[in-house]
Amino acid sequence: MNIDPVLLETIRTRRTFAIISHPDAGKTTLTEKLLLYGGAIHLAGTVKARRQQRHATSDWMQMEQERGISVTSSVMQFGYEGYQINLLDTPGHEDFSEDTYRVLIAADSAVMLLDNRKGVEERTRQLFAVCKRRRIPIFTVVNKCDRVGEDPLKLIGDVEADLGIDCHPITWPIHADGAFIGVYDRRRRLIYRFERGEDHGASEADVRVASLEDPSVADLIGAEAHERLVHDIALLDAAGHPFSHEAMLAGTLSPVFFASALTNFGVEPFLKEFVELAPPPTAREASTGLVDPADPSFAGFVFKIQANMDPRHRDRVAFVRVCSGKFEPGLQVTHVRTGKTLRLSSAQQFLARERSAVEEAWPGDVIGVMDRGTLRIGDTLAADATLEFSGIPRFAPEHFARVIATDPLKRKQMDAGLRQLTEEGAAQVFYTSGTDTLSPTPIVGAVGQLQFDVMMHRLEHEYGAPCRLEKISARYPRWVVGAADEIERISRDRGRMLLYDAKGHPLILFEDSWGLRWALERETVVTFHEVAP
Ligand code: G4P
Repeated sequence: MNIDPVLLETIRTRRTFAIISHPDAGKTTLTEKLLLYGGAIHLAGTVKARRQQRHATSDWMQMEQERGISVTSSVMQFGYEGYQINLLDTPGHEDFSEDTYRVLIAADSAVMLLDNRKGVEERTRQLFAVCKRRRIPIFTVVNKCDRVGEDPLKLIGDVEADLGIDCHPITWPIHADGAFIGVYDRRRRLIYRFERGEDHGASEADVRVASLEDPSVADLIGAEAHERLVHDIALLDAAGHPFSHEAMLAGTLSPVFFASALTNFGVEPFLKEFVELAPPPTAREASTGLVDPADPSFAGFVFKIQANMDPRHRDRVAFVRVCSGKFEPGLQVTHVRTGKTLRLSSAQQFLARERSAVEEAWPGDVIGVMDRGTLRIGDTLAADATLEFSGIPRFAPEHFARVIATDPLKRKQMDAGLRQLTEEGAAQVFYTSGTDTLSPTPIVGAVGQLQFDVMMHRLEHEYGAPCRLEKISARYPRWVVGAADEIERISRDRGRMLLYDAKGHPLILFEDSWGLRWALERETVVTFHEVAP
């Protein structure tokens, strides 16, 4: 392989990550502050304003129609100290959907953002599980340290116990008279003392830096805070998990940071460490073996498709994560699933909401490819027609509903629509008897409510089949592998339902988590799986 030094250097300085968090932990605020320190925005408040605007305009579809495409998805690119950072947005709140999980397949690392009073919450747990399965490095940021929260040592202990990951604090909070005044960076052995600005965190925080041994430190943070800090650090050094780069890269040790996204305190110390510690794009598994990002031959995969909600414009954007080589407009690739040659003439890159044409894109970058309906989630686009990435798993839906054509004469259109939406990755369809689409009523599954809204909208406007949903209360699915008669026997118990996915794989839907646990413990003749086989 011919190594291109420009390609190598570009890869070395690329960081592609996503933030995982429970709603309200401060993801929007932190995103904004990272953009602020990255120089991509000059005054904080813009991302937030966008979100509020989005909430205010309760009709998401309408937003999509007005904009053409994609307010729900974006990739924010910004530079920091010679690094080029791609922050992949993980749709949260009511936008939460399978896409949120898929974004994590495209990321090289994740930042787990926690509220200092709440620690690990339900959404965090679900998203963490996806990262853990992929064994990507997970950085922890404990946010809202400007308010009194859980004791940092206890919080870390809880994270370790809850998620089964070792933690190593890299920064440690410094409090004086109950106020969050700074952090100590254990790797750099530096104290950052922050000053609160006048503008409520809209611009970068004023900071003074000193080493722990510096005689003026007691003046800088106060004698009491100094004494406590020395004590805490000695304790962490003696009793905490030592830092291990290998363990971090393997996803078994999480570097921890303390910050307040609101006041900006601790945000830059985190960013400084993050760019150095987080991995650049690494090799990815494919049918031909591992694909090295430095391979000059282009390869990427589709991890998300954003359909246009405007029926007059059927085009859609396929988000492609570049895994190797370099993209330039006009690049010819093979759409490996169909064997067809595609010329990627127009590709978009995204900065917050703005879209702009891309001149070049490198491993770790994401490009938006205009598509007329040929591309599907997980598809490989590569110069080498024999190379295919391992694909993207289907994630277990959390909501299920029967879908009923309001006009029975439109049943055919509805089935065609559902088939297409399934192939595209926009829906998951289940049947009560094998893959027989004549089964009385198909059941759709979604990760978030929004996914249902999109399905209904598209069935009506793209396929001419207005439908209504009848919610099913059961919401705990597990794919089951085992003998057919055993699976049937297990599914006959009260509160269970046997379904088949679009590929004919059986799954059992449990009414409550208790019933699910009961089956998991007792029914050992079959195996249960959270993601589709
Ligand atoms: P999300 O995207 O994760 O849902 O969270 P978002 O950033 O919107 O933050 C949720 C709430 O938490 C917001 O308050 C936000 O201001 C607050 N917040 C974020 N970071 C910090 C922090 O470091 N310290 C403190 N004290 N609060 C923080 P809100 O009242 O819902 O909205 P707003 O009126 O402040 O805009």
